[in-house]
Amino acid sequence: MGRLTGRRAIVTGAGSGIGRASALLFAQEGAAVLAVDRAADAVEETARLVRDAGGRAIAMAADAGSEHDVQACVARAVSELGGLEVMFANAGVSGGDVALDDQTVELWQEVLRVNLIGPFLAVKHAGRHMRAQGRGSIVCTASVAGLRANAGGTPYSASKAGVISLVQTAANSFAGTGVRINAVCPGLIETGMTKPVFDYARARGSTDRIGQINPMLRYGLPHEIAAMAAFLASDDASYVNGQAIAVDGGLSSTHPFKRRRQ
Ligand SMILES: NC(=O)c1ccc[n+]([C@@H]2O[C@H](COP(=O)([O-])OP(=O)(O)OC[C@H]3O[C@@H](n4cnc5c(N)ncnc54)[C@H](O)[C@@H]3O)[C@@H](O)[C@H]2O)c1
Repeated sequence: MGRLTGRRAIVTGAGSGIGRASALLFAQEGAAVLAVDRAADAVEETARLVRDAGGRAIAMAADAGSEHDVQACVARAVSELGGLEVMFANAGVSGGDVALDDQTVELWQEVLRVNLIGPFLAVKHAGRHMRAQGRGSIVCTASVAGLRANAGGTPYSASKAGVISLVQTAANSFAGTGVRINAVCPGLIETGMTKPVFDYARARGSTDRIGQINPMLRYGLPHEIAAMAAFLASDDASYVNGQAIAVDGGLSSTHPFKRRRQ
């Protein structure tokens, strides 16, 4: 028996990185997965990888920041998987590295639409279904960028701080309903989103310096975030609610410092 046996789960942003690793792990833990991404080919590939590993998954191309699409995802999970107990609102965009003076309202609107309104829509529509059945777990991907500065651009960081607030307030909106909601705050993880950082370091031969500012002295991998998402989704986290949990090698535990040689 896996920790998610018998559960039906939606994972957004499942075409790459953390979302793909989570779709694979949720299925390995026994969940039937609706893998959602706006990149249709990539999310089909994720569903195929899950099925090749012996799991159950279907793919759906959808925009996680569109209310119409999120409603359609929830409806499809219910009709084709037979229900919905787990919602992992993980899709996100970085918004790039744009100087404050050059940031436009359009840039802010798009980053907030995908990264914050997307999770709100997941909470609203998956939450409505879960409340009615009296159980469910919602997990949102925030970021250490939502905790303090220097881990992403301004709109990105604001969107992730908003996700942390969303899980705190939604946990209270769901009081007494049997629905839990939490966020995971990844540190630096090697994924499609951070590819430019890794490509740049590889080109300079400085890959070994990536992640050196956290006490584990390394960057993270998608499956390490998926592991936290699976825990939060499962009954192992039955008393964990309204939290934003950093999975960052200890990055957010420290003040700036100069490391001494051991
Ligand atoms: N990689 C990191 O270091 C890191 C750190 C902190 C937080 N995060 C967060 O983790 C989450 C997953 O990102 P990742 O690192 O795996 O990046 P990724 O780029 O590898 O994956 C993100 C996926 O989301 C999809 N997506 C983007 N906008 C979408 C939309 N509107 N609708 C549907 N799908 C959409 C993309 O197509 C992509 O497949 C994001 O919310 C990101 O902000 C990542």
